[in-house]
Amino acid sequence: MSEQIETDQTQEHAMKAKAPSASAADSAQAAHGSTMGDAQAAHANTDAAHTTDAGAGAAVQQTSTSAAQQAPVPAVRYDHVSKVYDDAEDAEPAVDDASFSVADHDFAMFVGSSGGGKTTLLKMANGLIAPTSGAVYYFGEDVAHTDQVKLRRKIGYVIQGSMLFPNMTVEKNILYVPRLRKFSKEQQAEALERALALTGIDSKYLTKYPAALSGGQQQRVGIARALAGNPDVVLMDEPFSAVDEITRRQLQTEIIDIHRKAKLTILFVTHDIDEALRLGTKIMVINRGKMQQFGTPDELLAHPATSYVEQLLADHD
Ligand SMILES: Nc1ncnc2c1ncn2[C@@H]1O[C@H](COP(=O)(O)OP(=O)(O)OP(=O)(O)O)[C@@H](O)[C@H]1O
Ligand SMILES: [Mg+2]
Repeated sequence: MSEQIETDQTQEHAMKAKAPSASAADSAQAAHGSTMGDAQAAHANTDAAHTTDAGAGAAVQQTSTSAAQQAPVPAVRYDHVSKVYDDAEDAEPAVDDASFSVADHDFAMFVGSSGGGKTTLLKMANGLIAPTSGAVYYFGEDVAHTDQVKLRRKIGYVIQGSMLFPNMTVEKNILYVPRLRKFSKEQQAEALERALALTGIDSKYLTKYPAALSGGQQQRVGIARALAGNPDVVLMDEPFSAVDEITRRQLQTEIIDIHRKAKLTILFVTHDIDEALRLGTKIMVINRGKMQQFGTPDELLAHPATSYVEQLLADHD
């Protein structure tokens, strides 16, 4: 909750200085800033490629040297990223020299044991945590040199448990970012309708307060809220870990559907290998700060790169 508020307050602060973006294209422009030309062109290419190529194999694209030269700009690229927390008890990095790319429209799962570095990696994608060394690129732009307030407006963020404002109705929660961005009434209505359609939230809940909703419904509203600003990328940190197994299965099915319909890139943290295999087009395994493997579920199952990955997969259903 506090992280979200912090993010939102930063957003609010920025809104005072910055006029709203009228459309998705405008928003993208605002997010991508002055070097927009190249990045946006590459982004558009990715869209075209994705549409033509849609299907199970579409998300699989790894870098050979010649392919890399023509490859579209990844949504998020980690380049030799390390993080050592100042107040860490030992000198072991939370993340140690991680390099991998999440392509546009990928559903990338970060999986591994507790304390492995998953959340640290995730929060580097929207600048909530700065790398100690290396760099993280969002559609080709170094996050460290990007206006992070604008960046966070374009990146949805969903965390475990309820991150909703308890004193706001469901509608106000969902429209929080669009209102900060001073969407017109019409744009707000569109954003709300789209978010409800994608998440399957019944409009009868709009006037209710979060406390009147079940855990699963609150998570759905959290997702709707993250989608209402029409983001390209959504970060999700163990979003379903606080709900019961049946609700969790439902939410998993729904997020797969949302990912496909909204053409999103999702970075999703879990410690559950079954969830990773079920949802991910790509899986990044990390343990004690060290990247173990990054590949498709099939690649991991066929060729586990380390004994840790092997052990993790041995535990799956
Ligand atoms: N703000 C912080 N200050 C100091 N150390 C931190 C901080 N945040 C995380 N760490 C440490 O960095 C390491 C990685 O933490 P991180 O939260 O990224 O792991 P995680 O994989 O998300 O774990 P979990 O599954 O328990 O959420 C851990 O050893 C943790 O104690
Ligand atoms: Mg974590």
